Amino acid sequence: MHGYLDMIEPEQIPEYEPILHELRNQSRRMTQIVEDLLTLSRLEAHVDLPPERISLRSLLEALRREAVALGQGAHVITTELLGHHDLLGSTKELHSAFSNLVSNAVRYTPAGGRITLRWESEDNGGRLSVIDTGQGISSQHLPRLTERFYRVSTSRSRETGGTGLGLSIVKHVLQLHHAHLEISSEPGVGSTFACVFGPAQLLEPLALAGAP
Ligand SMILES: Nc1ncnc2c1ncn2[C@@H]1O[C@H](COP(=O)(O)OP(=O)(O)OP(=O)(O)O)[C@@H](O)[C@H]1O
Ligand SMILES: [Mg+2]
Repeated sequence: MHGYLDMIEPEQIPEYEPILHELRNQSRRMTQIVEDLLTLSRLEAHVDLPPERISLRSLLEALRREAVALGQGAHVITTELLGHHDLLGSTKELHSAFSNLVSNAVRYTPAGGRITLRWESEDNGGRLSVIDTGQGISSQHLPRLTERFYRVSTSRSRETGGTGLGLSIVKHVLQLHHAHLEISSEPGVGSTFACVFGPAQLLEPLALAGAP
């Protein structure tokens, strides 16, 4: 479908331009939904994820760069590294889960807002939080946010181009890492999405490992 749509030149049939534009948008959306559903079923099959060492310093920096690119510089984005542990898990899956939270923060925070990416860890556990000063979510929606296709306001979400599968993917990725998602939010003030990991998922940094 993408291929055929790309072959049609809007200049040749100007009166169909808006229709063509809509068709292209919808076909992109369908592709995204199919990809997200495939990701979900792969995660539900309880794949064995490779246990890798993930450095939070570089991960936070990569996420910060993604947020800046996605928001085209409209937000103030900061990172806070408040723990020295590395994380044990699948780099690919965890990065994709955190990216989901970051893209939500960017999309649901108006220009000029602040987004903070924070890693905190102690020996008994760690948490990666994505904190925004965006539109927030009222409390009745919070328990349902990680359901498939659940979106707070369909019209507003459609404008921002999501599928409503992002947070269910996040939940599954975290489950596979024996971690969970904590959400707190206040309408008009902002939201915090925290990924909470147990001690088994934390690693001493390489330089310190084995030190007395
Ligand atoms: N940081 C946030 N601030 C305000 N609302 C949010 C935030 N993150 C998520 N939401 C709400 O939760 C809903 C579900 O989020 P989810 O990431 O699952 O879907 P989505 O962003 O609409 O689509 P996508 O599948 O592309 O991620 C969103 O539609 C939005 O209404
Ligand atoms: Mg999303």
